[in-house]
Amino acid sequence: MMRYSRIVQKPGQSMYIASTAVFLAEVLKIIACLAVMRYQQRSWEGFTLMVRHEILGKPKETLKMLIPSGLYALQNNLLYVALSNLEAATFQVTYQMKILSTAIFSVVLLGRSLNRDKWCALVLLMIGVTMVQSQSMSSAAPPEPVASETDGDMPLDQPLVLAVQNPFIGLVAVITSCISSGFAGCYFEKILKTSDTSMWVRNIQLGISGAFFSFVGMVMYDSQALREGGLLQGYDWLTWVVVANQALGGLLVAIVVKYADNILKGFATSLSIIVSGIISFYLFNFQPTMPFVLGAAIVMVSSYLYGIDFSKKMSAIKPH
Ligand code: C5P
Repeated sequence: MMRYSRIVQKPGQSMYIASTAVFLAEVLKIIACLAVMRYQQRSWEGFTLMVRHEILGKPKETLKMLIPSGLYALQNNLLYVALSNLEAATFQVTYQMKILSTAIFSVVLLGRSLNRDKWCALVLLMIGVTMVQSQSMSSAAPPEPVASETDGDMPLDQPLVLAVQNPFIGLVAVITSCISSGFAGCYFEKILKTSDTSMWVRNIQLGISGAFFSFVGMVMYDSQALREGGLLQGYDWLTWVVVANQALGGLLVAIVVKYADNILKGFATSLSIIVSGIISFYLFNFQPTMPFVLGAAIVMVSSYLYGIDFSKKMSAIKPH
């Protein structure tokens, strides 16, 4: 949807400015969290008390969120740099390193221990998702030039096929964003799981600093366009769907991290790519190739291996 919204333009209508969509998604995330808090508090008094006490009264806690939201902003911008400097396939292979970086930060930051089977399952997942992604990248038609190319938060809606400029810079960018993704995710998970502060409050705190960073980005890169056409220029229903999807998707990430963890999030997103492939097969005439099918099978096997304690199961059936 994001890509479609960037390449399909109605005649006579201007293209929306991508950085405004990023900013509005942060604002929408904050509004959604406030709505949930209001629902949970059951009265306006309880709600305003909570906002005053937990959010306005604890600016230091919001400042803590500058680290993950700053890293997310950096990561999303670096992905754009990586996509502009690397070939699509190289990008996809190297970007899957975030599965391993997340696992490493889960061990280092969260004290999690992973046995050999789990590491093997993670490597298998990386291989499988790379194979699955290779098809979506090779079958993606080169997008038309778009009105604004300043979107830092939506790397995949940028031109996917660009002349290779500097692979070294691209590689450094992708490695840095993998490290940033793993660190930011585990840092956020640690904050969520080691304090009693509600997840909705944490997301508002993250959203405030995220809105700050995206606002600065928007003003820095698109101030002239904003002055000429306003914040909502080129918006139609699809743009709002994309914005809502971004915002609610971010909240889903937080829910997954709170009730499961960042490593499982990697498996979930990999499986969701396969589900998208199956939906595209029925809806968009998507023809899966052999690497896609093989990669999908590897992702499923790796998820299964990660989910079961493989060696325990094996020793249980082995006679002494
Ligand atoms: O690639 P990775 O899994 O690190 O991306 C996570 C994405 O989820 C980032 O784009 C980040 O902005 C978003 N996020 C969010 N709210 C959270 C956690 C992550 O919007 N609480």
